[in-house]
Amino acid sequence: MGQHVQEKIAALRDELRKHEYLYYVLDKPEISDLEYDAMMRELQALEAAHPEFLTLDSPTQRVGGKPREGFVKVRHSSAMLSLDNALNEAELRDFDRRVRDLLNGEPFQYVAEVKLDGLSMAARFEEGQFRLAVTRGDGAEGEDVTDNARTIRTLPLKVPTHLPRFEVRGEVVMLQKHFAQLNEERERQGLPRYVNPRNSAAGSLRVLEPSITAARKLEFFAYLLLVDGRPAYDSHWESLQALQQMGFKVNPNNKRVNDVDALYAFCQKIETRRDDLGYEIDGVVAKVDSIPQQERLGWTAKAPRWAIAFKFPARQEETVVENIIVQVGRTGALTPVAKLKPVFVSGVTVSNATLHNEDEIQRLDVQIGDTVLIERSGDVIPKVVKVVRQGIDRRKFEMPKQCPECGSDVVRAEGEAASRCLNSNCPARLKESVLHFAARGVMDIDGMGDVLVDQLVDRGLVKNIADLYDLTLEQFLTLERMGEKSATKIRDNIDRSRQQPLPRVLNGLGIPFVGERTAQILADTFGDLDRIATADADTLQSANEVGPKVAESIRRFFAEEHNQALVERLRTARLTFTHEAKRIEGGPLAGKVFVITGTLPSLSRDEAKAKIEAAGGKVTDSVSKKTTYLVAGEAAGSKLTKAQQLGIPVLDQQALLDLIGQ
Ligand code: IVH
Repeated sequence: MGQHVQEKIAALRDELRKHEYLYYVLDKPEISDLEYDAMMRELQALEAAHPEFLTLDSPTQRVGGKPREGFVKVRHSSAMLSLDNALNEAELRDFDRRVRDLLNGEPFQYVAEVKLDGLSMAARFEEGQFRLAVTRGDGAEGEDVTDNARTIRTLPLKVPTHLPRFEVRGEVVMLQKHFAQLNEERERQGLPRYVNPRNSAAGSLRVLEPSITAARKLEFFAYLLLVDGRPAYDSHWESLQALQQMGFKVNPNNKRVNDVDALYAFCQKIETRRDDLGYEIDGVVAKVDSIPQQERLGWTAKAPRWAIAFKFPARQEETVVENIIVQVGRTGALTPVAKLKPVFVSGVTVSNATLHNEDEIQRLDVQIGDTVLIERSGDVIPKVVKVVRQGIDRRKFEMPKQCPECGSDVVRAEGEAASRCLNSNCPARLKESVLHFAARGVMDIDGMGDVLVDQLVDRGLVKNIADLYDLTLEQFLTLERMGEKSATKIRDNIDRSRQQPLPRVLNGLGIPFVGERTAQILADTFGDLDRIATADADTLQSANEVGPKVAESIRRFFAEEHNQALVERLRTARLTFTHEAKRIEGGPLAGKVFVITGTLPSLSRDEAKAKIEAAGGKVTDSVSKKTTYLVAGEAAGSKLTKAQQLGIPVLDQQALLDLIGQ
């Protein structure tokens, strides 16, 4: 039996590694998240039942090990120095001239790479296995963050290579979307927001609790490959390719170029794409490609002479806060927004900046009349970085006691950062709800933007999202700037949205805590809207990733009379309420056959069966070769013996619950 289980474990690990690589490094997943999670849980259960087969390079070890007392200092194999900067084209050309002079006119090439704005880290591998990760620290010595680094999915834990040992250096970053999610979550928990993705990546890598790092979803981009502190190949470009072949994430924009003109063109091109990358960059790094040439160029005390960082100008400007207003969102949250004296920031005129909430205003100590530094980062809305000068007649912002849209009371609940309008029929909330429902990626109703929604709501034509489906061509034609052609188009777009699949409908309803991913999981698990709407909190929690908070929020939403009426009207409008596709194969236990025997510690046989079935598994009575797992409790008898003879893995109650994700 040992043999059988060990092979199964090895096969699962290989599969998981393959899918991690496809998902995280290549961004081309071949299986759904649910299938991936199910495989991971299967491996976890097997390893829990057979700790003798557990190894540190297993994909399960990414979930985060035990907390530590403190960080151990480690010396770097060679110094991690920084780079000299070029702040404009002239300085870049100066650098190129120095290189050419020092190389006596010999031909050479540059490798141009994006300069990622995160924190650098060195990862050491022996016999293809990840062994140690060290932060940059002071350049000579850094901190051992091995357990935390292991949770980074783009850092492979095991790689195919002929090198007996090597070191990869690269940058740890947090994607802007994960940064935004993290801050939203922190706001919900009443915690202060992180200022930017770099700080939050640094904070997430240097925590003593690896499970926190795991939850933060960091990425590692590799940019140097060393053996014994020296480059592994004679060409840097070749090193990058070797890294890519081993399964590391190497930035896809990197390019080898022939001269400084092409290098500068690369810098300009990357700068125009800065907003679209999904992560923060602050420039371009150019490195002489040939390592023998690098060695001839050598180092100054601080930095290599063979490389330069071309820095993009900071996307920050000073301006005056002329007013602070509040905007009411879909959930009723009041967001303070600074109205700015318009200012040009790297190509865009900025006149609004978000201030998030009262705590943030207090942290910044910003008042109306102050001169502030604002920054455009990857986020859509610019933000206030700090107050540069206090205004002479500065005026404090006060959160209004009444909603500026509907006059209802505004309340800030204890432990919450947000103040909210309590009126669920507030027109501002309705407008935001309609915009969310119609948004791209939700119901995809093209043309349903601010201007149209304002008119529809203000004229009373739309009182809830279901009203959209009753709008007639004539009604559209009464609106401002609406001709026959555009009216027909928008009505057709609304019509077509009836075909959007259930996960989008669910997301569109705007249930608190139910976004795109949770909506997908709910649809996959329960297969139709009515089952979700009538489920109790326990049943809802049988879905993957749905905890008590989310379950309660869903339950409360569907218990509300107005929402029930809304659902009925959407049904009449023939929206998609069922979801065939992945219902069966989507559950975490899909395709698995269980037999239950003996007395389980806290679940009755029926409860265990219900849980397995809710997760997509099947329960049969007798053990055969088709049985995937035997779940065994106290006083298990002949079924246990038979399973052992057939080499079928045996789970206890806890292992079963782990497998389901509970
Ligand atoms: S090469 C000697 N390549 O920028 C070579 N660095 O000021 C040193 N960085 O500390 C690093 N992207 O954290 C290199 N593609 C890239 C980079 C990069 C970001 C960071 C790195 C380093 C700093 C240098």
